[in-house]
Amino acid sequence: MGIQIAPSILSADFANLERDILAVSDADWLHVDVMDGHFVPNLTLGLPVVERLAQVSPLPLDVHLMIDDPDRWAPRYAEIGATSVTFHLEAAADPRTIAADLRSMGARASCAIKPGTPVEDVLPLLDTLDMVLVMTVEPGFGGQAFMADMMPKLRTLRAAAEAAGRDLWLQADGGVARDTIQTVVEAGGDVLVAGSAIYGAADRGAEIGALRALGEA
Ligand code: DX5
Ligand code: ZN
Repeated sequence: MGIQIAPSILSADFANLERDILAVSDADWLHVDVMDGHFVPNLTLGLPVVERLAQVSPLPLDVHLMIDDPDRWAPRYAEIGATSVTFHLEAAADPRTIAADLRSMGARASCAIKPGTPVEDVLPLLDTLDMVLVMTVEPGFGGQAFMADMMPKLRTLRAAAEAAGRDLWLQADGGVARDTIQTVVEAGGDVLVAGSAIYGAADRGAEIGALRALGEA
C-alpha cells in the first residue's frame, strides 16, 4: 500500500465541522484530536462530538486520544464508531489490554509516543498494535515546527516491523507539510497527519493531492 493522508480537524473551523470534513473527502482518514486539558495543556472535544463526526464523515475516523486514563476511555471511542484509535503510551496503565480491547471491538489499535519517549518503550508492544504514532511535535497544538530528529524512531520501528514480518502502519503527526513529507516517508512513515498544512490551504483537496504526490514521489 502507498501512503495515506489523514487531515487533522484541529485546524478546521469548529463552528463548521461538517463543511470542513466534506472538504477533505479526497483523503484516506479523518484525524480527530481528543485533548482533555490534563494529559496535554489544551482541550478540544470528546465522545458526543466524535460520535456525530463518525456519522457524518465519509472518511473513517482516526481518533488520537491525548487524554489521561485511556484504559477507561479508548474502548468507548471504538464503540461509537472510530475505525482507528490511538492512545498515548505515557498515559496508559495497561497498554496491552487497551490494544486487545480495541481489536476485540473491531477497531485498529494504535499507540502514540511523545517526542521525549524512547522508541524502545513501544517495541515490546508491537505484536498487539496495528499502528504506532510517532509525534513530530509536542502534542497539544497545531501549527508547530516539525522535529526531524524523530526520524530515527520511524526507522527503528520500520526495521522492527519488517524483522517481525508485520504490516505495521507508522503515523507521523505534527508539522507534516510539503517541505517535510518526503523526510517522513523516507524514514518509513506511511500515514501522514496534516492539520495546518491542509486547512491553511485555500483549496484543501488540491493540498491533499500535492502532499500525496510528494509523498509517493
Ligand atoms: C497536535 C495534534 C496534531 C495537530 C497537527 O497535538 O496531535 O494532530 O493537529 O497539526 P499540524 O499539522 O498543524 O502540525
Ligand atoms: Zn493528532
